Amino acid sequence: MLTDSFGRTIRYLRVSVTDRCNLFCNYCRLPNETLSPNNRELLDFDELVRLLRLFLALGVERIRLTGGEPLLRRNIVGLVQEIAQLPGLRELTLTTNALLLARHAAALRAAGLHRVNISLDSLHPHTFDRITQPHRLLPDLPSERQEVLGLPAVLAGIDAALRAGLQPVKINMVVMRGINDSEIVDMVQFAHRHGLLLRFIETMPVGEAGMEMADHFIPAEEILQRIQNHFASQLIPVEDKRGSGPARYFRLADSAAELGVISARSRHFCDTCNRMRLTSKGSLVYCLGRSDRMDLKQLLRNGASDAELQAAILAAVALKPQQHEFNQSEFYRPGNRMSALGG
Ligand code: 5AD
Repeated sequence: MLTDSFGRTIRYLRVSVTDRCNLFCNYCRLPNETLSPNNRELLDFDELVRLLRLFLALGVERIRLTGGEPLLRRNIVGLVQEIAQLPGLRELTLTTNALLLARHAAALRAAGLHRVNISLDSLHPHTFDRITQPHRLLPDLPSERQEVLGLPAVLAGIDAALRAGLQPVKINMVVMRGINDSEIVDMVQFAHRHGLLLRFIETMPVGEAGMEMADHFIPAEEILQRIQNHFASQLIPVEDKRGSGPARYFRLADSAAELGVISARSRHFCDTCNRMRLTSKGSLVYCLGRSDRMDLKQLLRNGASDAELQAAILAAVALKPQQHEFNQSEFYRPGNRMSALGG
């Protein structure tokens, strides 16, 4: 069992499969944040599947694929298919910006993916583009093709996920004051209308981009208050059926529809943290808010045995810190890039 020195058991692994992304979300990635061009640095599928098999044997039960944008990894469907068959896996999910989801949703479902979380921060094309800056990547894309990089593609991706049965489809909205906070209520209504589970996420000061957005921070309590005021109705806490994630869920008194908040900053949930993160280059990161990590790729490529790899994983778990440091003013870790950690 992967139990850390504070008694927390690790059952959940977030796995970044690429640093590449087709967006530049302002809270995640700076415009000049470059990509590592060297594919040899990435764990290949055999290496990754071998590691995941070991994590599962040690008690991990749920795996989430992230990026960058995981759908940019070549043959992601094949990877999902391999991972889905590993013994001990109870849930396989993926976090995506959904730009490429319409074309992959059905195949991902067939390959064994259970659910997707989709990042969507605005329902207005202009604000969406302001936050995600899609045209930085392909500035020369002819205008009639630009919708493939924008909000319409994401909405098509959401629709495809629902139709493919990748449910419940969760929507992550990073709320930023003065940028998209005027859309909180619209997003509640949009999610309700489409049967989506919306989670409002406090901006986290992770990486340089995240630090820059810290000025736009809105605490979860204010988000909840605004929703209550608008609907003139109480938000009633509901229990998370799985009880495994960081979100707190609520429903409006006169509605069955639920919404969640992830208040990593205003009310941290480190004491129930059940997760670690594996980067696409094979390092195990103990905490989103710390840069400490263990390089498993080097061990793999130096010919470590399964037992040696498992010993390294156990040693890493023992190093998991008690808490993140988001609220400490000296927090500054340009080494921990959110764009490489997948949220
Ligand atoms: N603050 C909060 N959430 C973030 N994410 C990425 N960067 C940040 C940040 N600085 C989350 C978003 C996105 C997911 C992939 O990661 O919720 O949906």
